[in-house]
Amino acid sequence: MELIEKYGTPLKFTYLPKIDSQIEKARDLFKLAFEKYEYNANYNYCYCTKSSHFSFVLNQVLKNGVDLETSSAFDLSIIERLAQANKFDKKQFIICNGYKTEQYATNMAKLVNNGFENLVCVLDNIDEFELLNNHTSRETKLGIRIATEEEPNFLVYTSRLGMSHKKILDLYQEKIKGHPNFKLKLLHFFVNSGIRDTTYFWSELARLVNVYCDVKEVCDDLDTLDIGGGMPIYTSLGVEYDYAYMIDQIVYYIKAICDNRKVPVPNIFTEFGSFTVGESGGMLYSIIGQKEQNDKELWYMINSSFITTLPDTWGIGQKFIMLAVNNWDKEFQRINLGGLTCDSQDFYNSDTNTNQVFMPKIDSNETLHMGFFHTGAYQESLGGYGGIQHCLIPAPKHILIDRDEAGNLSYEVFAQEQKEETMLNILGY
Ligand SMILES: Cc1ncc(COP(=O)(O)O)c(C=O)c1O
Repeated sequence: MELIEKYGTPLKFTYLPKIDSQIEKARDLFKLAFEKYEYNANYNYCYCTKSSHFSFVLNQVLKNGVDLETSSAFDLSIIERLAQANKFDKKQFIICNGYKTEQYATNMAKLVNNGFENLVCVLDNIDEFELLNNHTSRETKLGIRIATEEEPNFLVYTSRLGMSHKKILDLYQEKIKGHPNFKLKLLHFFVNSGIRDTTYFWSELARLVNVYCDVKEVCDDLDTLDIGGGMPIYTSLGVEYDYAYMIDQIVYYIKAICDNRKVPVPNIFTEFGSFTVGESGGMLYSIIGQKEQNDKELWYMINSSFITTLPDTWGIGQKFIMLAVNNWDKEFQRINLGGLTCDSQDFYNSDTNTNQVFMPKIDSNETLHMGFFHTGAYQESLGGYGGIQHCLIPAPKHILIDRDEAGNLSYEVFAQEQKEETMLNILGY
């Protein structure tokens, strides 16, 4: 309520200390598991920049000395700027995933030529090797993405990203082995459905670690296994996630398989995106109207749009933690939340656990405010924050919250609510 009284709604906020504590949590759990299984290699926490490219996020993650994972050409320009500002060291890892275009390869070569010695280009196919070969003349580290087998209920059998086991061995033997400029350092994979305690995840992990062992047997330079992102976050207050168990078991599996195959254990890299920033973000709205459509369907209108501010709720049915901010003492009733665009899909009416949404009854002399929490990953880039928005609903004001060592909070306005003028400019008026 303090934030709402000070800044109004709709309001996007980012609570920066949460980013630190998430990084610390993962590092602590990997450290524990490494000690338990006498795992003699390194763990590197990489932040996947596409989950939130904002400067305040990158500044915060880099204070924790993490490495970075990129997905397109412009990402590398961000890293260049961060290095110029002495926030990123040339020795830190840059894991370049994503489809390699001319521009992306040019930007990678530029960084390598400028001394970024731990840039790793992760190849998705053989053509990308040729493309990179045309651009670089200095020693460049390579990774290869292993294609995962999708879950049985998915629309395709094998992920469209990465290469099959046999193609990896062929690419290494035919093109990389003995090449003066290239060293194969890393194998990468990303299980699309995330790091979950399911038979599918564990059997896929075991298969992928075996692929690592096969390649390691012929390639001495290989020393790292990058297990991608996909560490879940809390999107409901009613579900517990056992991070310690999952990380313990990941380390256990990799160690057991490598020992069995008599292959040295790899360094483990992760590329956690949602896990790093998801829980740092929130969206606050006010209810500005009610509409009863029939006996059962009561609508509360928020003063913004789900499609533009929380596009995952609309695009993939994502749920977030949702709570009323005031009026907790009032009677609650089942409602549907509607957004301001004219799109009939601009609504939110089901929670993870109940498939329903409840909010306090509205008193005519008090505005009801509500919030969506843990919304810090992906929503701005998918919603086109600050650009043209559906029905020209403006991007909300955005504030950053920090906390000093004594626990005092400080607030900074990162962006004011989007102005009419900026949209009209983009539209050519
Ligand atoms: C290659 C790669 N690594 C990491 C991530 C981050 O995933 P998450 O946000 O689930 O941690 C993604 C997300 O799409 C990805 O494509």
